[in-house]
Amino acid sequence: MSVSLRDEIQKEVDKRRTFAIISHPDAGKTTLTEKLLLFGGAIREAGSVKARKASRHATSDWMEIEKQRGISVTSSVMQFDYNGHRVNILDTPGHQDFSEDTYRTLTAADSAVMLIDVAKGVEPQTIKLFQVCSKRGIPIFTFINKLDREGQSPFDLMEEIERVLGIRSVPMNWPIGMGRDLCGVYDRMKNQVELFNGKDHSTIEVRKVEDYNDPIIREMAGDYMTDQLIADLELLDVAGDQFDFEKVSRGELTPVFFGSAVNNFGVQTFLENFLQLAPKPTSRESSVGTIEPTNEKFTGYVFKIQANMNPAHRDRIAFLRICSGRFDRGMSVKHVRAGKDIKLSQPQQFLAQDRDIVESAYPGDIIGLFDPGIFRIGDSLAQGGSLEFNELPTFSPEIFAKVTVKNALKHKQYQKGIDQLTEEGTIQVFRTTSFEETILGVVGQLQFEVFEYRMRAEYGVEIQLHRQTYQFARWIVDDKIDPSKFRINSTLVKDKKDNYVVLFENEYAMRTAMEKNPTAKFLETAP
Ligand code: G4P
Repeated sequence: MSVSLRDEIQKEVDKRRTFAIISHPDAGKTTLTEKLLLFGGAIREAGSVKARKASRHATSDWMEIEKQRGISVTSSVMQFDYNGHRVNILDTPGHQDFSEDTYRTLTAADSAVMLIDVAKGVEPQTIKLFQVCSKRGIPIFTFINKLDREGQSPFDLMEEIERVLGIRSVPMNWPIGMGRDLCGVYDRMKNQVELFNGKDHSTIEVRKVEDYNDPIIREMAGDYMTDQLIADLELLDVAGDQFDFEKVSRGELTPVFFGSAVNNFGVQTFLENFLQLAPKPTSRESSVGTIEPTNEKFTGYVFKIQANMNPAHRDRIAFLRICSGRFDRGMSVKHVRAGKDIKLSQPQQFLAQDRDIVESAYPGDIIGLFDPGIFRIGDSLAQGGSLEFNELPTFSPEIFAKVTVKNALKHKQYQKGIDQLTEEGTIQVFRTTSFEETILGVVGQLQFEVFEYRMRAEYGVEIQLHRQTYQFARWIVDDKIDPSKFRINSTLVKDKKDNYVVLFENEYAMRTAMEKNPTAKFLETAP
């Protein structure tokens, strides 16, 4: 029994690929996701995801604010099967107003697909998300999109990726022409040419060739483009990085694919290569050491809590990443922080916007648990034992606002709301050392709107937020802290645990403070 359970888990783990797509808004993430889901048969019609993005939501069970803004406040999970693989795509909000949720969701992924617009190159939100993935050392695959449009030269893009993100890249395919002249791509691994049919985007021809000097290419692409292709590929062969699986696995080298998501060009080859090269669910570090996915005991951790999916019922959903073992509906597990056993009876799996009850699930899968208020972000669940997964990272807030309550009589509810909502971990709370004023810090503006909404909806409190001009928070560790040193373009505050934090208005102020306090350490997050 025991041996076969381990074998079963191993088989399921081998099949799974859990990843997130990271990009700047408008790079084409919704379009790419939709094409991937179409290949996987998870949706039948083109436009379904797009429609979902445009009209969130006809159904009543999403947060009011999502409907008002027409964007996704929270991330969801999409699952499909392809070529014997079970694929979990973690969706991260593509809007500018991303939040800590977006960052935390990345901790549940085993790899990431970085989507870049061929004309715009590496954009700000991509940089932030890349850094979170890079810190964890997870493999990052790059898809350069919109090849049907005029863009930067592939060499310039590779150079930009290295300069801005500090990662070297290895092109897996190479464009033949671009924009209106796009002929196709040359697949460097398989030595084949994929033809782009500009008139009728639905047909894509794949021609096997000997190598890039094969006369077939000249016949298809003409002299000018073929000469260019040969020159480029010769240069890459000599001066470019070789594909190195180990380096990719360690996140030191990113395989690059060129294509056009909206035309479905290069997407299928990308998917097939990606599934082959991307890692299966990996082990996780915990308080009792490394937990391998094939461990027979079920374990997992909550990486995100979505409140008010159904405002009528005020239910919350805790998103759990399974780290080891097999999940069975109705099983009892230990809620480690609370120190008690709980029964997991109504778990859900997510596909686009539909929710399905799940009977069993394996490492790499994400399940949604109904949460009557017992979960916090970072909570670990374990079968037959106690362990805690290493705490989820916190991120340095970049946007700040002073908060006050409109009706002083509601002060008690206001305090309760602040305590509970900041406990969830998406908003950080600070108090000024002089007047005991409350300042909130977030990484995305939308979090303030959600906070304001929830204070009203869940605690019946109207609040006022006054935006502050601070841009950075740094936790100071020093033997002796002299508040008088943090007056110019900065403020000394305390966090929830009474740690000293300085809020700076600009980088200059921050650098000056560091120079003036050479013995102090300035940390981006709480020590
Ligand atoms: P996002 O989720 O990353 O924000 O991007 P989304 O997929 O919504 O794509 C942003 C825009 O880029 C869309 O155009 C989409 O059609 C377009 N797009 C995506 N992939 C490609 C591509 O390969 N080539 C070209 N030329 N365009 C692409 P839109 O005008 O905002 O919307 P729509 O009216 O086309 O739906």
